[in-house]
Amino acid sequence: MKKVKASAPGKLLLFGEHAVVYDKPCIVTAVDRRVHVEASFNGKEELIVSAPQMGVLDYKRKVKELCSQEMPKQVSFIEALVKRFYQKYGFDKGCFIRTKSDFSHTFGFGSSSAVTVATATALAKLYKINFSKKELFDLCYKAVLDIQGVGSGFDLAAALWGGTIYYIKGAKEVFKLKIKSLPIVVVYSGVKADTPTLVRQVAEFKRKNPKKINNIFKNIEKIVEQGKLEIEKKDWEKVGALMLENQGLLEELGVNTLRLEKLVKKAVSTGAYGAKLSGAGGGDCMIALCKKSDKIRVEKALENVGGKVMKVGLNAKGVVCKKI
Ligand code: MEV
Repeated sequence: MKKVKASAPGKLLLFGEHAVVYDKPCIVTAVDRRVHVEASFNGKEELIVSAPQMGVLDYKRKVKELCSQEMPKQVSFIEALVKRFYQKYGFDKGCFIRTKSDFSHTFGFGSSSAVTVATATALAKLYKINFSKKELFDLCYKAVLDIQGVGSGFDLAAALWGGTIYYIKGAKEVFKLKIKSLPIVVVYSGVKADTPTLVRQVAEFKRKNPKKINNIFKNIEKIVEQGKLEIEKKDWEKVGALMLENQGLLEELGVNTLRLEKLVKKAVSTGAYGAKLSGAGGGDCMIALCKKSDKIRVEKALENVGGKVMKVGLNAKGVVCKKI
């Protein structure tokens, strides 16, 4: 086999951020912006990575020395994944990995998880290994934790399974919701969020106020359970109300920002059923649920208060892979 191509989608969290780190469920949808990976053998005992959009050209690391030194941020997830993959199977035959992304890593769509999943899937095909999705997930999750240290793995699940899924940490449960589309407007707040820092901030908050934070997580769990039912029923009014409730709890967790709150308020005052931040908070995207007929009006209003409308399709396909 000469070359393999794989692509995996980014994600947006609909409900359950932060609580999912503590074994509560969340609901995540895959977006139709993807990370593309090409993998081939290079005849050497080294990993060679090119990610031209990130300014990386022919980054080289001996297979035996993977992750042994400081790595540039742009290649760290790939290097950790390749190391985990090679360790699992005892390979030393080097490979070439080339990446291209449909979206910038600044938006919080999960480019690191998408590149990890696409690379793992491409390598499995290149080395002719039959992985189940759960096996691929486990490998990718270990690699992500090697680099990030924290996280629930929900973004990897979205990249692998695609669609809109109900998820519990470690892929203990991955359940696809039966829906075709979601009437959601996505707006970038203009600020890049630092997920590991926010996760650690919440952990510290929880250490100091365990009762309060556990209570918030329990309430978020109820919203996720209810949200799952209402999304499948397409009861958008109820889904919108749940989004606002979830947003209030994220505010209590201390991860909301003035900018995100302004966008949420604007969306609701312009007619959205509901809105909330999506992801770790501190920035990244806000999502608003609204009638198709209100979409353009809501989008314009959000742009007028500094939001950047992201034209993304939701409920997108999970990882795909082919030989070329
Ligand atoms: C970040 O997008 C979502 C968090 O729940 C972290 C995670 O689940 O890994 C804050």
